[in-house]
Amino acid sequence: LPTLRQLGVPCESVQHNRIDRVESRAAELARTHRRVFYLCDGVYSMHGDIAPVDDLFALLERQPKLWAYVDDAHGVGWAGRHGTGVVVGRRGVHERMVVALSLAKGFASSGAALVFGDREMARLVFTCGSTLIFSGPLQPPLLGAAIASAKIHLSDELPVLQKKAADRIELFDALLAERGLGPRSIEPSPIRFVQVGHENRALEVAALLRAAGYYVNVSAFPAVPRRRAGIRIVLTCHHTLDDVRGLVDELARVLPRKERDADLAPAERVMTER
Ligand SMILES: Cc1ncc(COP(=O)(O)O)c(C=O)c1O
Repeated sequence: LPTLRQLGVPCESVQHNRIDRVESRAAELARTHRRVFYLCDGVYSMHGDIAPVDDLFALLERQPKLWAYVDDAHGVGWAGRHGTGVVVGRRGVHERMVVALSLAKGFASSGAALVFGDREMARLVFTCGSTLIFSGPLQPPLLGAAIASAKIHLSDELPVLQKKAADRIELFDALLAERGLGPRSIEPSPIRFVQVGHENRALEVAALLRAAGYYVNVSAFPAVPRRRAGIRIVLTCHHTLDDVRGLVDELARVLPRKERDADLAPAERVMTER
């Protein structure tokens, strides 16, 4: 957004996933602007929640001046046909949509794929896009890794791997619910977030987990709101089911129920306010 603002593009924020609010602002702005872009993620990087993709497609149908740019970096690999994410892989691409698919996360390489619903927009970005003009080429080893990964994504192995990832997510969520910890997002994705509350306490919890052999991320302000820090876990096919069980056991041990209840209550309110 700062870069867009420097270019003189008026930008504003809309409450998380509130397609109704996007619609009312888009309708107002359409009176005075040729194009209105809604920028969002496919899978959100901290809580692992997912954009309301069907609602977004329906909105694009209702608002002819609205375009969507969806960053689906975290949808790649585990979601959708050939691992093309929660938008392209599940719904395709709308004619007024651009979807960015990073190859640096689930794809295990580097670089990205951009998917356009409009041929002219693709030509414009390819011809004028600043990173396509000025950045260096993708390094050959990464290109080799991307090709190898693409072959897996196009093969029959991918659905097997996706199922394996889904099993780990399902087990993690079930065990977390059993322990009263509850993941932050109800939508299944490999990113799971267990809210702790205070930033220092989240760091402490992560250190305790690391001492027990579990290396997790701490997610804190400004990536998430102040005082709603937490433990961010990224589940992969490399984890065994016992790894998942062990991690949840350890989480339950280091986060006593009383503390969780106290800290989770405000977050639940925020979720419903959204
Ligand atoms: C939502 C999102 N998009 C894109 C990226 C970066 O992707 P890339 O490394 O391909 O630029 C990140 C994080 O690194 C991210 O969280």
